[in-house]
Amino acid sequence: MQLDRILQSQGFGSRKECRALVRDGLVKIAGQVMTDPFVELDTSGLVFEIDDWEWEYADQVYIALYKPVGYECSHKPKHNASVYTLLPPPLVNRNVQSVGRLDVDTTGLLLFSDDGQFIHAMSSPRRHITKSYRATTPQPIEPGLIEKLMEGVQLLDEPEPVRALAARQTGEQELELLVDQGKYHLVKRMVAAAGGHVETLHRFAMGELSLEAGVLPELEEEDWCYLRPQHLSLLGFVDKSDRAGA
Ligand code: URA
Repeated sequence: MQLDRILQSQGFGSRKECRALVRDGLVKIAGQVMTDPFVELDTSGLVFEIDDWEWEYADQVYIALYKPVGYECSHKPKHNASVYTLLPPPLVNRNVQSVGRLDVDTTGLLLFSDDGQFIHAMSSPRRHITKSYRATTPQPIEPGLIEKLMEGVQLLDEPEPVRALAARQTGEQELELLVDQGKYHLVKRMVAAAGGHVETLHRFAMGELSLEAGVLPELEEEDWCYLRPQHLSLLGFVDKSDRAGA
């Protein structure tokens, strides 16, 4: 593929802007400043540098972000910053979208991609991708709350009671909950329906992909990383694209 088209496909602007990046001497490959925006390159395993920042060519990108409190999962947030401001502009220009949403006050694992099939697969109720949450409560957890979550709680607007796949108390004011649905405010509504109240909420895993199990690079709040094929397979997703960096 031509270098200017490669850069455009990776989110670095219009073809004209990408040609200008090359002509301005800002693009390097293997340490060499590129001068010809029309040079044909093999994209497989291609790594390029722009302004001393290294990028891997990828047909499609898959990303994990450790979402902090105070960010809305929307491109046009109403009252807070957008989670998309935590990603580098070329990734946002590629039109990555989040897989579902976390509330503005929820922290933890949030996935993004520009692969519609991936987003659809991860969001599809039929796939039953599990989500693991840790919640704290302002008061000590009442006896029976965990049992109610396991037996199923009736939520407004839901035809049937919603059950946790697993729930356990992990502290006087802390519990962990495993669910496989992605409904609006699900965990807060479930805990409320069981007679409790969520003070803080953190999603620490989706399927086997955990922020805490050493399967991802160690991420601090606001950090992101690419998901590699081994991470995607933990989510039961096989990437068929020419993704760099197995
Ligand atoms: N459940 C909630 O209540 N909030 C979230 O952000 C995620 C799950």
